[in-house]
Amino acid sequence: MQIKNPNNIFRRFIFNDNSVMCNKFNKNIIILGIESSCDDTSIAVSKNNDILSNIVADQKVHKKYGGVVPELASREHQKNIIPTLALALKEAQVKINEIDGIAFTRGPGLMGSLLVGASFAKSLSIALSKPLIEINHMEAHVLANFIDHHPNFPFICLTVSGGHTQLVLVKDVQTIQLLGETLDDSAGETFDKCAKLLGLNYPGGPEIEKEAISGDETKFKFTTPKVDGLNFSFSGLKTNIRRVIENNLKTDENFISKYKKDLCASIQYTIIHILMEKLKIAIETYNIKNIAISGGVAANEKFRSQIKLLETQQNCRVLIPKKEYSTDNGAMIAIAGYYKYQSQQFTKLSTDVKPRYRLNTYIK
Ligand code: KG4
Ligand code: ZN
Repeated sequence: MQIKNPNNIFRRFIFNDNSVMCNKFNKNIIILGIESSCDDTSIAVSKNNDILSNIVADQKVHKKYGGVVPELASREHQKNIIPTLALALKEAQVKINEIDGIAFTRGPGLMGSLLVGASFAKSLSIALSKPLIEINHMEAHVLANFIDHHPNFPFICLTVSGGHTQLVLVKDVQTIQLLGETLDDSAGETFDKCAKLLGLNYPGGPEIEKEAISGDETKFKFTTPKVDGLNFSFSGLKTNIRRVIENNLKTDENFISKYKKDLCASIQYTIIHILMEKLKIAIETYNIKNIAISGGVAANEKFRSQIKLLETQQNCRVLIPKKEYSTDNGAMIAIAGYYKYQSQQFTKLSTDVKPRYRLNTYIK
């Protein structure tokens, strides 16, 4: 099959095959992981708990709209999914009939985007006569920490993505308890909306991070929410930032261009401060020193360095996934699929997608 690469959309990662065969089947298990919940089409191939390839096709089409346009996202997934698969298999040096199971994101996410990935996974399952494995996207973000790492249980994971901000307690690979989550907007969405206010591109997180490098994070003081327990809120902060910008624009039409870097640094500082404060409460409440992060915002250098500081400040053991496993990726779906394959948790072809799929909250 010829691999098209229009506009150089593919990000590719090179891997060493160090996979360890430590499963009850006494054979290598090869899983295809298909991720299509939002605006990235990603397919990965795993061999046992190692990732052999992880291809991500970006969707640049949303940039000019300041956010993801669902219908455009579905169409891009349709265009990209076959070339993404071809590249993933090629880089993994795996033939399609060597795959043992096909894992796909069932939800949460955009209905149309999920349907493209799920239908594709089902077609492959029928054509290859291989089991289908449904994956919860938020659970997969947490399990991204099992790629290259061996987490100690139990651990607390703070997942911060474009749609979710969640604190979970991971008791074992299949027992993930929700401790707290956002009551309104997510931290990623706050980055994205603030970037839009400042005239920056989507996704806003990396754009704000770039501008913030040379900005003064103490220049603007924004509101931090008062939310009890381990839940989060970001809508008040978003409104506060918008008001500060609008009020200043009334007296200085160049306010944004003059203070863009300081605004970005102060916004980034406030969002990370809110996340860190809640994480510290979770560490104290549960007296657990094994900490992990995940989700797109976990790609932020400032956030990563604050998390790293917990090692010395709080005597924690900290897990931080590589950046390519923080933002949406097929590798986390493949690794989640590998664990489900081991316990033979397969999915019927009649299974529907779930745009509002809640994280499993089993408590043992
Ligand atoms: O997990 P993810 O890739 O997709 C979802 O499941 O939503 O997260 C996307 C979110 C977006 O809001 C994006 O702005 C944010 O992650 N993000 C970042 C960075 N890279 C991505 N936020 C802050 N700093 C970054 N470097
Ligand atoms: Zn995600």
